[in-house]
Amino acid sequence: MKVLVTGGLGFIGSHTCVQFLEAGHEVLIFDNLSNSYLITLDAIRNLQNGTISFKKIDILNLSELREAAKDFKPDAVMHFAGLKSVSESLLVPLSYYETNVVGTLNLLKVCKELGVSKFIFSSSATVYGVPSYLPIDENHIISPVTPYGHSKAMCEQIISNFCDTTKIDAFILRYFNPVGAHYSGLIGENPLQKPNNLMPIISQVASGVLKKVSVFGTDYETLDGTAERDYIHVCDLASAHLAALQAKTMPEQYNVFNVGTGKSTSVFDLIQAYERGCGQTLPIEKAGRRDGDVMACWTDRTKVSQQLGWAPKFNLDDMCETSWRYVVKSRALN
Ligand code: WQD
Repeated sequence: MKVLVTGGLGFIGSHTCVQFLEAGHEVLIFDNLSNSYLITLDAIRNLQNGTISFKKIDILNLSELREAAKDFKPDAVMHFAGLKSVSESLLVPLSYYETNVVGTLNLLKVCKELGVSKFIFSSSATVYGVPSYLPIDENHIISPVTPYGHSKAMCEQIISNFCDTTKIDAFILRYFNPVGAHYSGLIGENPLQKPNNLMPIISQVASGVLKKVSVFGTDYETLDGTAERDYIHVCDLASAHLAALQAKTMPEQYNVFNVGTGKSTSVFDLIQAYERGCGQTLPIEKAGRRDGDVMACWTDRTKVSQQLGWAPKFNLDDMCETSWRYVVKSRALN
């Protein structure tokens, strides 16, 4: 298939493009390089032969987007491009609504004009807000509590209504917490902007870029008092996208899947796993809770396993070891 991948040079996008190429699909990446590096394209090409091209496109520029996409005539669109920090969205909500919602609207207009047959959307477990039960399944109420979560929920609603008026098949993948890196160490999580997420912060402490990990909240009603999340290896997340891309007849035109391991891991658990992976003790400081955070969030992965035949292959130590390998390799290459 010919697949247009927005945000394809980003963390999840780059790992997904490698698997799309490996499966024999042709890839065109649109990325505005606001939180990614052009050099990642070289790394993808080093990792996997195949037909891949790139255009520096901002999905907020509809005319540019339309012009660049029409010659490619994609069979499917994989939409990663967007802003994704829970905490940052509380500070700049309008940016999150503009980039995530208007960007998606523009892309759907182009999909309609080009007769795209499949749309895969990078959504988030943050659409659930504060879980009313755990593990979370796809029937859980949508009740976001941050602008980031609201923006993703709005996009899902728009895509659902779009499906009612077209023949396009839509796959909504609600991510939990993607971490780790490709085993080669050539691609990984390397945000251009200062990271807000726990794993890149831990890796920057391990590599000496940051001095310590601030643990946001040690008084939660969890086993060790720190917040719990469902961390999933980025390569497992990438293979879930490949499963969606290659899915044949589905029971519905609009398909929603939680994509996570189904396991909960605390902040302390992740820090200790990273210490095993990097062979160091990492300095931490106990801090107050962070606005917008929920205490615990992990998934029931029955639906994605049954309907897409997907299951995670990597464990927490794999996530930390591959993340650390990427940090070491990046330092060696720079
Ligand atoms: C995890 C835990 C923090 C930083 C992420 C993505 C979001 C979405 C959902 C995909 C929390 C704690 C963090 C730090 C800490 N994924 N923490 N010290 O908030 O679950 O959201 O998953 O769409 O895009 O951002 O992830 O890594 O920011 O936080 O203690 O320096 O780690 O309080 O409990 P979060 P996170």
